[in-house]
Amino acid sequence: MNKSPIILGIETSCDETAVSIIQDNESGIPKILSNIVSSQFDIHKEFGGVVPELAARSHVEKINLIAKKALDESGVSLDKISAVAATSGPGLIICLSVGLNFAKSLASSLKIPFIGVNHLEGHALSPRLQTNINYPYLLLLISGGHSQFLSVNGLGSYTRLGTTIDDALGEAFDKTAKLLGIEFPGGPKLEKFAEKGDPNKYKLPKPIINKGGCNLSFAGLKTAILRITKYINSEQEKYDLAASFQKTIEEILYIKSKIAFKEFLKNPFEEKSFVVAGGVAANNGIRKKLTEVSNENGFKAIFPDIKLCGDNAAMIALVGLEKYKIKKFDNMDLEANPRLALDASAKFLKGSGLIY
Ligand code: KG4
Ligand code: ZN
Repeated sequence: MNKSPIILGIETSCDETAVSIIQDNESGIPKILSNIVSSQFDIHKEFGGVVPELAARSHVEKINLIAKKALDESGVSLDKISAVAATSGPGLIICLSVGLNFAKSLASSLKIPFIGVNHLEGHALSPRLQTNINYPYLLLLISGGHSQFLSVNGLGSYTRLGTTIDDALGEAFDKTAKLLGIEFPGGPKLEKFAEKGDPNKYKLPKPIINKGGCNLSFAGLKTAILRITKYINSEQEKYDLAASFQKTIEEILYIKSKIAFKEFLKNPFEEKSFVVAGGVAANNGIRKKLTEVSNENGFKAIFPDIKLCGDNAAMIALVGLEKYKIKKFDNMDLEANPRLALDASAKFLKGSGLIY
């Protein structure tokens, strides 16, 4: 094994073609030698959402080029790579397969290990690309497909404390944005709209706020917004609705995080770290509000850099590196798993009938 292993990571689970090269470091924080992310916004925006076939085709067209770019930028030659890691799930199966097959071919031609990575584990460990953080820590993972509170106990060890019973938070942002006429993906632009509006103009529901522990629900918000948009005429009213939505989300996360803190502390820990990761963790208002609730409750709030919140391959390479160190390699018959979970023992929880 190399003294300081170098991992090439690949991410193609949805609409980003990403390749990154990272190197282990004595500090415990790996060095990101390159981190190339190519988004497909232009391909999907006219459809208002990701079209799987178009996404997969674009991955096929771009993966070689992006890998070459990542290698060139890193200054690392192929013979110095210790292992190839790629997202194996969850995600769109035809998209996952592109990255997985590319990784398998590369690893086998270089005769180095191939490592399959859970995309969610990439998000979960992403702050470790920038800071030394001890296990266990509390994680709020908020992305386009997932919204969960988890105890991160170590590599491959997660306990789910709460999850969304309907929409993911990113989905709620994107759907609300669409209703306001903002083009896909609307989350980041919705935040900008919100900055220009009155957050107290519209009163929106906070589903299951007083029940269901730290489980989350956002579908009711979308219905309420749909109703209000029918009566909206001016741009200012759109800004006001965006601001009211942003404020409501912040309040929901504030309250649910407090509940999650209590759940997490059922086992008392010396260090109380609260990591917020995933695409929606890029939202400044949410970062501010969750820093506030963390400070009030003796937790240290940790957010990945904005560029590491959204989908990227550095986080995949990071999990690959951790697995490489303990020689947790995969066979070439590893298949893409669109439903891969972090806590496989957690029960299926969709629909308010399951919440009490
Ligand atoms: O983690 P991610 O890049 O992809 C998934 O794994 O799903 O998350 C993408 C989601 C999208 O729904 C996007 O609209 C949302 O994150 N997002 C935001 C912001 N930036 C990205 N939502 C709210 N505010 C933002 N600033
Ligand atoms: Zn993601």
